[in-house]
Amino acid sequence: MTLLDKNVLITGGAGFIGSHLCEEVARKRPKRLVVVDNLFLGKKNNLKGALRLYPKLKFYKTSVTDYKKLKEIIRKNNIEVVFNLAVVPLPASLVKPEMAFNVNVDSVLNLCELARKGYYKTLIHCSSSEAYGSAQYVPMDEKHPCNPSTAYAASKLSGDQLCLAYARAYGIDVSVLRPFNNYGPRQNAGSYAGIIPVVIKRALKGKTIDIYGDGRQTRDYIFVQDTASAFIDVYKTRAARNQVINVASGKEISVNELVRAILHIMDAKRAKIRHISPRPGDVRRHCGDVKLARKTFDFKQRIRFEDGLRQTIEWYVGNNRKRKEQK
Ligand SMILES: NC(=O)c1ccc[n+]([C@@H]2O[C@H](COP(=O)([O-])OP(=O)(O)OC[C@H]3O[C@@H](n4cnc5c(N)ncnc54)[C@H](O)[C@@H]3O)[C@@H](O)[C@H]2O)c1
Repeated sequence: MTLLDKNVLITGGAGFIGSHLCEEVARKRPKRLVVVDNLFLGKKNNLKGALRLYPKLKFYKTSVTDYKKLKEIIRKNNIEVVFNLAVVPLPASLVKPEMAFNVNVDSVLNLCELARKGYYKTLIHCSSSEAYGSAQYVPMDEKHPCNPSTAYAASKLSGDQLCLAYARAYGIDVSVLRPFNNYGPRQNAGSYAGIIPVVIKRALKGKTIDIYGDGRQTRDYIFVQDTASAFIDVYKTRAARNQVINVASGKEISVNELVRAILHIMDAKRAKIRHISPRPGDVRRHCGDVKLARKTFDFKQRIRFEDGLRQTIEWYVGNNRKRKEQK
């Protein structure tokens, strides 16, 4: 199974991971490439690279929670494959938990219903390692208990469960990929930004870097292009259906280590660091097991953390320079 000549929809395609996936899919020469994104945090600018590779890309500024419009877009474009990456992310969910839960679950329910009714064939849904909650053992395989500790995490787990329930009840063609923390160019650096863009931005401005809690909480960082390739591989692999599959680096990095690594690359080692109150529901420990991904679709992490971090920093520094020149 390949994406050549397929009609593909990517929800959340104007976001961070979605825009990288758009580029990966564009390289596979689909017949149609369609993006649905309501630009909650995504930007049309993120699609520049995908548009260069695939100028016919169609963009709809629509919410995935709008069943009627989604159905119409899928029908009109004869969509065969949907990659679902639309999300109200974790930092936004801490401020708007109800909204995040509703959007993150309603969107998946809509897509499951449309698959059940035969409007398109295959759903590749994006989960999150947050669904596990904090590690009870490491590395965390797919059998690790799920104890979500935020509304975001609960919404991600609910979405995954919906996909699997629809597969059991109605036989829809679905796979769930569960990425651990992603990093790379184009990660949202504005409202509700994640730690890497925030640290880079503050270091560039010579501002104090805030770390939630003691900074000894760990995460498993995977470069965004490795995740995007994994999405394509999951689509291609029949054995990946009806299950959840982790995508991670298998390495554990503490927030303190992460901040030090960023400041080292940026030559800003003297930047001030301040520890502030822990974030509600922050998981203490994360480290993914990727044996299933290796076995199922020969997953390989191509970009090492140090190289990916350098690329990421260069991208933000370049962007910052461009913005200053435009002023
Ligand atoms: N970034 C990470 O570290 C990470 C880790 C694990 C899993 N994920 C998952 O990856 C996927 C993509 O996340 P991301 O980090 O790229 O986030 P992002 O915020 O950059 O992208 C999400 C996109 O969804 C769009 N969106 C939000 N609500 C929408 C709606 N109602 N209708 C249509 N579009 C909507 C946003 O505008 C944005 O462009 C999500 O499923 C997320 O749970 C992310």
